[in-house]
Amino acid sequence: MQITKASDAVGAVVEDVDVAQLSDDQFAELRSQFFDHGALFFKDQKLSPEDHIAFAERWNDIDVNRFFTPVEGYPQIAKVLKEPDQKLNIGGGWHTDHSYDEVPAMGSILYALEIPPSGGDTLFAGMHAAYEALDDDMKARIENLKALHGNAHIFGKDSAYREEVGGRYKNAENAGQEAIHPVVLKHPETGAKGLYVNPGFTLKILDVDEQESAELLQTLYAHIMQDRFHYRHKWEEGMLAMWDNRSTWHYALNDYQGHRRYLNRITVQGVPLN
Ligand code: SIN
Repeated sequence: MQITKASDAVGAVVEDVDVAQLSDDQFAELRSQFFDHGALFFKDQKLSPEDHIAFAERWNDIDVNRFFTPVEGYPQIAKVLKEPDQKLNIGGGWHTDHSYDEVPAMGSILYALEIPPSGGDTLFAGMHAAYEALDDDMKARIENLKALHGNAHIFGKDSAYREEVGGRYKNAENAGQEAIHPVVLKHPETGAKGLYVNPGFTLKILDVDEQESAELLQTLYAHIMQDRFHYRHKWEEGMLAMWDNRSTWHYALNDYQGHRRYLNRITVQGVPLN
């Protein structure tokens, strides 16, 4: 098994390994690299749904997503699908999965089944690198702040976005989860500090007025959106990507109109954040 950094800020590429046949030593190595790099990218995997589930369960129990349409017969696996005639993709904006939950999913494991001839890359951003690059004044300003996260504007019944995504999301009546998390998160496994707000699900920063919250979020988002904190993952069929939702953002690019893109995703349970 060979592991090389994907970029300075986030991710590592893992080669010469079959994730369906990992030894305990290989898994321990992957686990440590995963928390250090925030994301792992594997090529040439041949995974049945059962293999995908078994790999996910080596990390922790599966955190079944409430809103994505599951693969038939496999409620644990969410479809990330865009048909040739659909305009909007799933995940087409910077976000991190499940930050609206009190115990957000630790990681997401995405397996590529059908990739368009060009386009459909996923961008990743590293929250530790972004935090470390803040100046000391900003670090001090945000050190003890908390933010409110929620999902009704994305998955709820009044969401225009959900309407447009159409049948690919379900369960709108069960949306509305909200959770409060630190803006600066000490990673539960490594203790490294990172930013934990995201444009997809963070509603506001608490204990400051609305304008200050909006301005501060805007400043942090503009900082994180600099290319130097990113890695652009180009998919091939059979690739598997796994990211840590507590230390990365991701963004599925929607630049392949008229083509099908289909991946299966499993989210793995995390731990309370404090
Ligand atoms: C997601 O946001 O989980 C989907 C990412 C992708 O389709 O690349």
